[in-house]
Order: sequence, then C-alpha cells, then structure tokens
Amino acid sequence: MSMERVSSIEEARGALRRARLEGRTIGLVPTMGALHEGHLSLVAASRARCDLTVVSVFVNPTQFGPGEDFDAYPRDLDADTALLEAAGVDALFAPGTAVMYPAGAATSVDPGPLATLWCGASRPGHFTGVATIVTKLLSTVGPDVAFFGEKDYQQLKVIERVVTDLDIPTHVVGCPIVREPDGLALSSRNRYLSAADRTHALVLSRALASVRARVDAGETDGAALQRELANAIASEPGITLDYAAIVDAETLESVSELRRECRALVAARVGSARLIDNVALSPASSHACR
Ligand code: PAF
Repeated sequence: MSMERVSSIEEARGALRRARLEGRTIGLVPTMGALHEGHLSLVAASRARCDLTVVSVFVNPTQFGPGEDFDAYPRDLDADTALLEAAGVDALFAPGTAVMYPAGAATSVDPGPLATLWCGASRPGHFTGVATIVTKLLSTVGPDVAFFGEKDYQQLKVIERVVTDLDIPTHVVGCPIVREPDGLALSSRNRYLSAADRTHALVLSRALASVRARVDAGETDGAALQRELANAIASEPGITLDYAAIVDAETLESVSELRRECRALVAARVGSARLIDNVALSPASSHACR
C-alpha cells in the first residue's frame, strides 16, 4: 500500500480514524526531517511493534533559540518522503507552521526542572518548545506508542515526564543511538561538518567509550569520570565543549558515586554544528540490583 501524505490536523485524524476503529495499533515517529538511518531505525522499531506507522516531519520553530540554526536547518521533504515510502511507512504528517501554530496560539508546555539542566541551560526555552510540539503531535495522531532516539537522551526523559504528568495515553519508547562505523552518532546536523570538523567530532564518541570502559573496569567516582570526559574533549582542537556530565539515568542530576544506572552526556560545538552524544554507564552495583 502506498504511503498517505497529510498536512492538516483534520486530515491526519481522518486518515487514522478507520485504523483506530478497527483496533489497529498506531506508532508515531516524530521528526524534523533531514532523515538518516537513525530515524529509519525508529521507523523499523515502530513497524515491528505497531500495526500502522505514522512519521511526522516538522521543523519546529519554538525549540530553536534566537541565533540558532532554524533557518539553516536542512529541509528536503521530497527526499524524506522517498525514504519513508521505501521504509514502509503508512502515513506522513508534514504540516506547515500555521497548522501547528495558528495565529493567536498562546499555550505552551513547561516540562519543569528536568528541562533546565544541561541542554536546557545552554538553550533556554528549547525543551518547552519540544514539549509543546510533541504534546500537539501526540494529540493529533493519538499513537499507542511513540518512538524517540536515545541520542537526544535529555529530550527522551523530558518527553517521558510530560506524557506521565499530562496522562497522555501513549507509551514512549527510546531506541538506541545509531552510529557511523567510526563512532560518530548520526545527526541531521552532521551535514554542517567539514571534513576537518568531522574528524574533530570523533573525540565525542571516543571519550564516551573510554569513560564507559573505565566504569566497566570498576571506576565509580563520578567527579573523576566527569573530569576525564571534559579533559579528553577539551584537548581536541577545533571543538568547544559545552558540557560533559555524569548523571543519574532518570533524574539527570550529576552523581558523585555511580551506584545505579547512569549516563555520560556531552554537548560541544564543532565548526557551525552543536553536537550532542551520550552513553549508558552500568556500574557493577547496578547489575547486582537487577
Ligand atoms: O528530535 C527531534 O527531531 C525533535 O526534537 C522532535 C522530537 C521531532 C520535536 O520537534
């Protein structure tokens, strides 16, 4: 069956009415387009789990701050459509800005303290924009399950918080980061990297892997690991560290001693791109509790 393309909220709801009445499960993959294998892994996860897969493509202006890359953000709806069609997606929801934010729209979703940490501190208002648009997409599509990449780990935790707090009947699933063979996490923003930038950017995944190896070898000192991570990235030319943090995997608060599941999070500017990456840290004590 060919993929249905809709661009209004009414059309999106109409397209899914029949499936819902027939009791078919709906999976949603929200994206901002410029699709890559990371997005396609979310599509594959949705197709494996749900009867019907909907992908949204919308470059959401409210999650970009002044001076950020909203205007430059890569947009190629034709290429995205071809990829999604080939991936077996059932419906593409690609609204314009006036559909998602009609004149007079004044409501936003404030995800609370989780949204003020890390990327939230560097990009004030970013997660309010994300929480608002994701709430609207969930309200439009009404999916049983929504799929998000773990590369945006803080975003995933913020969305879980919003869905819980607003009693939204959608199950949120985080999917593993997809990497290039050399370790670089896939991102639409990798398109901004020059060949030299791309080489410098590899320090992120390298430093994260080395912190993970230290934890696997028994290191539990959060401050020492954080220092190692920050120093490794700061010593690479051509890269400006925003933050390097060792955090609790759920609260995203810094940890001084790794006892539960944690995450190492990094953000850095490489050339004109702001890149983020992260890795799961499982201290031996967290295995004992499983
Ligand atoms: O991760 C993204 O691409 C965006 O932040 C999202 C979740 C589609 C909201 O605009």
